[in-house]
Amino acid sequence: MAATRYASNAGFDTAFSVDTSHITFGAGCLREAGDVASDLGMTRVGLLTDPVLAQTQHVKTVEESLVAAGLAVVIYDQVRVEPTDASFAAAADFVASARVDGLVSVGGGSVMDTTKAANLYSVYPAPILTYVNAPIGEGAPVPGPLKPHIACPTTSGTGSECTGIAVLDVVDLEVKVGIQNQRIRPTRALIDPNCTRTLPASVVASAGFDVLNHALESYTARPFTRREPPARPTLRPASQGANPWSDLGSTETLRLLGHYLVRGVRDPTDTEARHALMWAASLAGIAFSNSGCHAAHAMSYAVAGLVKDYRPDGYPTSEPMVPHGMSVVLNSPSVFRLTARANPSRHLHAAALLGADHHGIGDQDAGNVLAGQIISLMQATGMPNGLTGVGYEPDDVPGLVDRAGLQRGLLANAPIEIDHDTLTSLFEGALSYW
Ligand SMILES: [Fe+2]
Repeated sequence: MAATRYASNAGFDTAFSVDTSHITFGAGCLREAGDVASDLGMTRVGLLTDPVLAQTQHVKTVEESLVAAGLAVVIYDQVRVEPTDASFAAAADFVASARVDGLVSVGGGSVMDTTKAANLYSVYPAPILTYVNAPIGEGAPVPGPLKPHIACPTTSGTGSECTGIAVLDVVDLEVKVGIQNQRIRPTRALIDPNCTRTLPASVVASAGFDVLNHALESYTARPFTRREPPARPTLRPASQGANPWSDLGSTETLRLLGHYLVRGVRDPTDTEARHALMWAASLAGIAFSNSGCHAAHAMSYAVAGLVKDYRPDGYPTSEPMVPHGMSVVLNSPSVFRLTARANPSRHLHAAALLGADHHGIGDQDAGNVLAGQIISLMQATGMPNGLTGVGYEPDDVPGLVDRAGLQRGLLANAPIEIDHDTLTSLFEGALSYW
């Protein structure tokens, strides 16, 4: 594997798989929804969105396109921001009772994830934990194909349109978990960067840092040549570790963010920047859906799940929440400071792509340089100063560690061993940065 810079290691996997996403990207492409839905054989479409987006032109454009193509449309506008097991179940009930033969989601990660889950649980009904990742759920495989799903993202963040991942809160267990299977990945995605025009700065910033971490965690994940081979070739996981395909998307994403993140946050009229952020979000989604994230995302589920009374600007909810991208990036300087020792050159390359001055920097400083660059981007875009900035205190660290420790799949994808003590020092290092 010299050509791909991945050296083989005895006893570990020697191949990687590329599961491609079928996407259309460009200004105005939401108007293509009707033709794409017809092409997929849809005749009666379930259109899922949230109550705020339901009032926007984005949903109207998609609905009009579907109707113009001669399709019947049934709208479900009750998707919950930060979905739960109950909100997933409600959406699945809608899909089952609406007798639709295809789904279209218009919204951010919450809407797309809910639509994936509603598709899954309506076609193959089961208790919620059946398909949830182990150890919290059973991690059962998806039995077969689902209904076609066209995802139309309206934020430049999650990349959910390109992934087979759906994240939810299991309320009784007070834990955020994921369902991961390539069968739940949307059949097609229509990515219209014009949707970013009206996004508030705080949403662009948080979403942008989610993208940044998808790319950074994908690029620095344990290489696929350091993962044990699957029991059968077809069981190779989507989170297969860093690989040449994911590296392409990750590095280009980081380069785009280095150029455009601050511009796109500060100026909603900067169309060039906002369109670039939308493209970066999709590229990073394609990358990490073939490699997996690691520690900063594992920690983020604890940060979001144990929120006290932090209420962010710009989000359509009065409930306490830490937006996903924010809950991730608050951990990431601390994480990359530590993981740099596994592969300093990758960490330094990432820092350079994000705009850091890397000349004359030795391997021993790679982690600090990358962490410093992330921190300067956080400061330039109004992010809180670490976990204390969203209400956590040193006494909260043990609880955060226990909760993050449940995310075994993500932690195992990190380039270094992350045990209980390591998690403790990572959370302590994330309490404040400046
Ligand atoms: Fe994410």
